Amino acid sequence: MNNKKCVCIGVSGGIAVYKALDIISALKKKDIDVRVIMTESATKFVTPLSFQSLSQNMVVTDMFAEPKAFEIQHISLAKRADVFLVAPATANIIGKVANGISDDMLSTTIMATRAKVIFAPAMNTNMYENMIVQDNIEKLKKYGYEFIEPASGRLACGDIGTGKLADVNTIVERVLEVLNNQDKSKELQGKNVLISAGPTHSKIDPVRFITNRSTGKMGYYIAEEAKARGANVTLVSGPTNINPPTGINVINVTTNEEMKNAMLDNFKNSDIVIKSAAVADYKAKNYSNEKIKKSEEDLVLTFVRDNDILKILGEQKNNQVLVGFAAESNNIIENAKNKLQKKNLDYIVANDITSADTGFGSEDNKVIIISKDGEEIYLDKMSKKEVASKIFETILRKR
Ligand code: CTP
Repeated sequence: MNNKKCVCIGVSGGIAVYKALDIISALKKKDIDVRVIMTESATKFVTPLSFQSLSQNMVVTDMFAEPKAFEIQHISLAKRADVFLVAPATANIIGKVANGISDDMLSTTIMATRAKVIFAPAMNTNMYENMIVQDNIEKLKKYGYEFIEPASGRLACGDIGTGKLADVNTIVERVLEVLNNQDKSKELQGKNVLISAGPTHSKIDPVRFITNRSTGKMGYYIAEEAKARGANVTLVSGPTNINPPTGINVINVTTNEEMKNAMLDNFKNSDIVIKSAAVADYKAKNYSNEKIKKSEEDLVLTFVRDNDILKILGEQKNNQVLVGFAAESNNIIENAKNKLQKKNLDYIVANDITSADTGFGSEDNKVIIISKDGEEIYLDKMSKKEVASKIFETILRKR
């Protein structure tokens, strides 16, 4: 019995066929069982023997398919695949699948599989931009097929534009990520995860407010990660420019008060609550219903304390796992530990906001996860997506 993960690679004809060899060799290094189906035109660019040698499996092509073997093979490969990658994907194979045509080994197997199918298109720019191809891509995306966008550059035909097969590493990383997500896709099944993200606004008058530099990225990645692990996710989001991931319940808020209410409404039913929002601690003492006019005098505004939402949640906590963030510029551990205790948290994710290439607005973060039992996990600088994953790894490990 073969317990290895299986990636089925459909290779359709085009000058980029040889790059599929690099994809196979990268996946083989990860101990993945790679199966290859080549269309007849793909075999004109590189021989099946090259694919067979690298994948260490028989390559299925239409040329040699006998009717009987064909029937069995396309069903068994369709079932065996954990991920189905079509690379390079031509306009032809995309068009066939989008329109339900299955007249060769590759299109038949794609039609029969329940595995995640990822297309990595490669073709001439004009072909790629043709509305028919674009319509087919949109249609397939709607049905849950995934596309790895082709890159721009000089194409084999001499044209310059979009249509080059995406970078091999990008393709391999995405395949590995999908396999990895499959492993963890049931970890939080049936659990309700509540997350807050982004800044809040303290309104001064109808046109003015104060806020902070939070972009919401960290919280959105946490929401995506919770979803990938099978949770029912509610994301309470302050104003951001991020498109919310699909399949999660998003509640948009602007002020501290609105965020507090949305969090309290959902708190009781939640199993894990992660508060990554950068909430304004103060609000204008007197909100002006009319726009404040300028005068010759200095302008003095008074701000008063607003809700500490996380503290309120900590006071109402029953069985929820409660996680806060601590944005610190000095005495990181000490300040974070104080917050953990004062707000009755289970974990606090502390980060140093003085570092230029991590924290607010950047793609990366360097954090320390502190648990209420005193464990301190020092993480290297990594993408916010990876930080999101580490947070759940820590919570799940300790449950
Ligand atoms: N938080 C909150 N409500 C506030 C302020 C913060 O819910 N009014 C939450 C944040 O979402 C975060 C944690 O509390 O999870 C810590 O936020 P941070 O801004 O680091 O700390 P503060 O408690 O505001 O303390 P200070 O600003 O003095 O460092």
